[in-house]
Amino acid sequence: MRIDGIAYRTIWLDPDDGWSVCIIDQTRLPWSLEIARLTTVEEAAHAIRAMRVRGAPLIGATAAFGLCLGLRADPSDEAMARDASLLAATRPTAVNLGWALARMRHRLAAVPPHERAARAYREAQAIADEDAVQNEALGHVGAPLIAGRARSGDTVNVLTHCNAGWLACVDWGTALAPIYVAHEQGVAVHVWVDETRPRNQGAALTAWELGKHGVAHTVIADNAGGHLMQRGLVDLVIVGTDRVSRNGDVANKIGTYLKALAAHDTGVPFYVALPSSTIDWTIADGVRDIPIEERSGREVSHMSGAMADGRIGEIAVVAAGSPLANPAFDVTPARLVGGLITERGLCAASESGLRSLFPDAA
Ligand code: MRU
Repeated sequence: MRIDGIAYRTIWLDPDDGWSVCIIDQTRLPWSLEIARLTTVEEAAHAIRAMRVRGAPLIGATAAFGLCLGLRADPSDEAMARDASLLAATRPTAVNLGWALARMRHRLAAVPPHERAARAYREAQAIADEDAVQNEALGHVGAPLIAGRARSGDTVNVLTHCNAGWLACVDWGTALAPIYVAHEQGVAVHVWVDETRPRNQGAALTAWELGKHGVAHTVIADNAGGHLMQRGLVDLVIVGTDRVSRNGDVANKIGTYLKALAAHDTGVPFYVALPSSTIDWTIADGVRDIPIEERSGREVSHMSGAMADGRIGEIAVVAAGSPLANPAFDVTPARLVGGLITERGLCAASESGLRSLFPDAA
């Protein structure tokens, strides 16, 4: 997608050396567009853990490139296993992380060590390229759902939570891809952007990328969504996901479940957009079994932002000493999900729905 007219992806190889990995440092957005260069597997793991890169598909692509950096340094079986464990331990909820590492290791297992790094770069690039292609495809699957809500040329109001745009993927995004496609097709679309406390991915990232692309949007406090739905100001909700269990339960950023409940109560369609790398076929009951990341309480007690002098700083918003909890994701049960938007089409949030589109999945 474009920033001030220039096409970007979120992750790419440095064209000067052909091996180091460039990322957009998302901890600096929206105040400053900074490109960081990753040169070791440890730096890649840190980038994921510290959320310099984040969003399920991008976490997976970064892990794949991180493994390449590790294999450059040491292509032995032992090092590959150690590096994969290091990367896998960075964040627990997004299944794309384990999916990408398993795919890399599967492809590399029979490759002799001296050829591994070159083969790994090809596979990591394929993972990144496929993510971009799949997300563009699901954008075309989801766009008619937006266009179909337009009443005699009126603006369609879509509510989204967190950042499931191109910044969360390699390109296009998941929840935002249908919005970008509808926008390109001339549908008048406006996005209600949940701020998404505690880390404010909606306010800081979604609003920024929609603004750079020229899509109308309004940032709202997380608690405003239910009220807007009651007043008829939301035509549909589209969110992304970090892991969908095979029964169609959906893990996404904390607060998504509350939006799904409000949408259910008010009759607003609630859709989830995902590439197939986000489906976890091994989990039968997502509400019960999807692992939920618990992050530092400091993300709740403190907020970061631009100070009056333009520096990025942090302020406390909770009295010192108050106990804190910070579950980073929740799981929306399949019964509240109106449909899953995938690169192969729209399906019901159920095992039979998913199997109808992915009969070949293991
Ligand atoms: O903690 P984050 O910022 O990595 O969480 C991201 C989300 O919850 C996204 O909605 C999810 O990854 C959707 S995939 C584009």
